Amino acid sequence: MKILMVASEATPFVKTGGLADVLGSLPPALVRLGDEVGVVMPKYRVAETRVNEAIVAEPVWLAMPLWVGPHSYSVDILRLVHRGVHYFFVDCPALYDRPEIYGDYPDDHIRFALLSQAALGIARHIFRPAVLHTHDWQAGLAAPYLRTTFAGDPTFFGLRTLLTIHNLGYQGNYPAAAFDDLGLDPGLYHPGGLEFWDRVSFLKAGIVWSDAVNTVSPTYAREIQTPEYGFGMDDLLREHSSKLSGILNGVDYEEWNPETGPYQVAHYSARDLAGKLASKQALLAEMGLPPNTRRPLIGIVSRFADQKGFDLVEGIAAWLADQDVAMVALGSGQKKYEDMFRQLAALRPEKFAVRIGYDDAVSHRIEAGADMFLMPSQYEPCGLSQMYSLRYGTVPIVRATGGLDDTVDESTGFKFVEYTPEALQGAIQQALDAFEKPGAWIARMRRGMAKDFSWDASAREYQRLMLSL
Ligand code: ADP
Ligand code: GLC
Repeated sequence: MKILMVASEATPFVKTGGLADVLGSLPPALVRLGDEVGVVMPKYRVAETRVNEAIVAEPVWLAMPLWVGPHSYSVDILRLVHRGVHYFFVDCPALYDRPEIYGDYPDDHIRFALLSQAALGIARHIFRPAVLHTHDWQAGLAAPYLRTTFAGDPTFFGLRTLLTIHNLGYQGNYPAAAFDDLGLDPGLYHPGGLEFWDRVSFLKAGIVWSDAVNTVSPTYAREIQTPEYGFGMDDLLREHSSKLSGILNGVDYEEWNPETGPYQVAHYSARDLAGKLASKQALLAEMGLPPNTRRPLIGIVSRFADQKGFDLVEGIAAWLADQDVAMVALGSGQKKYEDMFRQLAALRPEKFAVRIGYDDAVSHRIEAGADMFLMPSQYEPCGLSQMYSLRYGTVPIVRATGGLDDTVDESTGFKFVEYTPEALQGAIQQALDAFEKPGAWIARMRRGMAKDFSWDASAREYQRLMLSL
């Protein structure tokens, strides 16, 4: 099957979170199963458009004329082939040559409407797919453009569409006035179309017009149909439940593998764990913490957003400071969480360390060097970091929600249900108690390391879903 994906980020070119990991690893998994796969993404200023000296994106189409409503652009398309996947970069400096990827720019709706138009241009001229697979709100307009603007266009007859929702919390909602910029039929602006509480919603547009919709874990697919997790779209999703499903993300074990992975100071395996202790020593030193390897070390690598549950950590900070435990955190995002971690580190520098920022190397070294990995998320569509932790023998402590609930069990990690500081404290306490018994702890690590969340099974599910469209 020929599949063209559309998304706003992909490793190894540009990444802010797990979406990029998925776009870097699902496509090659589908290629291994015999599919032909392309991925369309913007050529941001900060995006790498090369893999190494030999694999560099080259122009495949110059000056493609594209329209977003009244706005016209002449866009170059660059391409490289990496792990068998055709990555297409949309080069439109007027929209993408900016300091930030997601800068809350006033023309963001145009920036990402153009991404969909470019994907359809690529589908017309360069890479003609059987399935157009869009990801998140940034690609939300591709399906409505296809089904309305280009409805009578024979080029696209038979083309089927799938939308994957990686995070319902980000919907791409814009003031009503933005609608006039998009070049869509005014008749589409109504509650059964892409109007959402008097705003234009890119994600809603994708949900309404795509042939199928999936999200990134079975539990999250159920949760988003409830008011608690629906971000106002639970009604809509229940209405479309017959085309909604959940497929768990996979892990790219070439990148996330304690035996061979990049950036580690020592490698190790379930059989020979010596390198894990060396990784812990090195991590403590790197973070400026005392070289006390007996004391349990909790790791955090995360976007600092409300979603991730760090207000609960704030709630137990005083208790945590009294425990015989150390904690290292890497992340960036909302200032209040950056400040909270900074304050913790300033208050108890012998226990808490924080790195504010985004750093691939440090993230790998935390996965390798920590004993436990904390994800107290309010909601978590899938979550990849807990799966990386399992493979690294770093026992996850998670809230039982979304993909966290689907991937961590009592034998491999520690879970809590209620979204309260007390419940989080209880789970950490359990983990600290369990850490006291090294034999059982190592057995727990090994059970986690033996779990297999590789993409093969999930990629097959995507294949089955796409074939059924
Ligand atoms: P989300 O996509 O919601 O951020 P996931 O758990 O699916 O959550 O994926 C997060 C990914 O982003 C992981 O690969 C994680 O290592 C990475 N990541 C998050 N924050 C940072 C950071 N500050 N530095 C490096 N990598 C990070
Ligand atoms: C989103 C979600 C995360 C998921 C990732 C990849 O960013 O927050 O849970 O793992 O997308 O699908």
